[in-house]
Amino acid sequence: MLFKQQPLLRQKLFVLGSLAIGSLLYLVARVGSLDRLQPICPIDGRFGPHGQEEIPLRTLQFKRGLLHEFRKGNATKEQIRLHNLVQELPKAIIIGVRKGGTRALLEMLNLHPAVVKASQEIHFFDNDENYAKGIEWYRKKMPFSYPHQITIEKSPAYFITEEVPERIYKMNSSIKLLIIVREPTTRAISDYTQVLEGKERKNKTYYKFEQLAIDPNTCEVNTKYKAVRTSIYTKHLERWLKYFPIEQFHIVDGDRLITEPLPELQLVEKFLNLPPRISQYNLYFNATRGFYCLRFNIVFNKCLAGSKGRIHPEVDPSVITKLRKFFHPFNQKFYQITGRTFNWP
Ligand code: A3P
Repeated sequence: MLFKQQPLLRQKLFVLGSLAIGSLLYLVARVGSLDRLQPICPIDGRFGPHGQEEIPLRTLQFKRGLLHEFRKGNATKEQIRLHNLVQELPKAIIIGVRKGGTRALLEMLNLHPAVVKASQEIHFFDNDENYAKGIEWYRKKMPFSYPHQITIEKSPAYFITEEVPERIYKMNSSIKLLIIVREPTTRAISDYTQVLEGKERKNKTYYKFEQLAIDPNTCEVNTKYKAVRTSIYTKHLERWLKYFPIEQFHIVDGDRLITEPLPELQLVEKFLNLPPRISQYNLYFNATRGFYCLRFNIVFNKCLAGSKGRIHPEVDPSVITKLRKFFHPFNQKFYQITGRTFNWP
């Protein structure tokens, strides 16, 4: 009987053994593949082959994942506590200048793992209604950050608004202030172009730049025109200097940020006492866009919106010459005060 059953038994044992070995092999393979799925070194991707010192992995995860959830308000109190997240008042503010490259500067600084940016322009200090809501309202507008990170916001209207320096001083008298400037005539034309686009969108007619920038009665530069006034950088800066010493400002060359962003960003890192983390890997030239775009890691790149880098209208060369002559003495004063000289005509 046993003799008869032996082949059947052997067959059963063989099937069971095969199943056991198969399961074991499957488990080994699965564990191996799970290991490979772990983000072992996404940091290399972020900072490229020359990647400098180690950046905490949590920072990367935070920036790309958790932060998004928290912004949407999906974070639980427990998650916030667990990750030591805080909403901090800014340690540095990009106060202007409008059309100087403020968005590019903020986005590029945000490549730094120790920087978090307020995505929207908050307009807390220049808007009386917002200011009346109080500093807690402002703080709650800030993104979540880790304790080792600094928060930066940008609202370019701050630079030219009378009340702002005193208000910022009252919040934090040792805050760091960033001003990004461009050649003043180009900046004024860029400013005009933005307003023109808004008018065209609403099907409104608008004046030519020449008509606005030059007073038709005197044929002189029209200093009442806002785009001209904003470009008199020294006048605005002098108001700020009543509250803050010059050491608390850093001037960024907006024209150079377009053509050669890295050295400008490295100067800002130094000013903010941040370790150098932004590298050439993070910035690549996009020929279609005609600008540098941002590379966060191997999969995540972004260029600025199309509203940045508009084509400027042609402006009468004699008007350009007149404006440049007009800005010249103000520029000299600006170089003198800031200690930074530009090749503006
Ligand atoms: P133009 O539209 O005149 O070209 P702001 O963000 O302060 O409004 O400044 C807008 C300007 O940022 C643009 O002015 C553009 O030239 C400049 N800029 C600098 N770096 C840029 C970049 N990497 N991508 C797009 N625009 C950039």
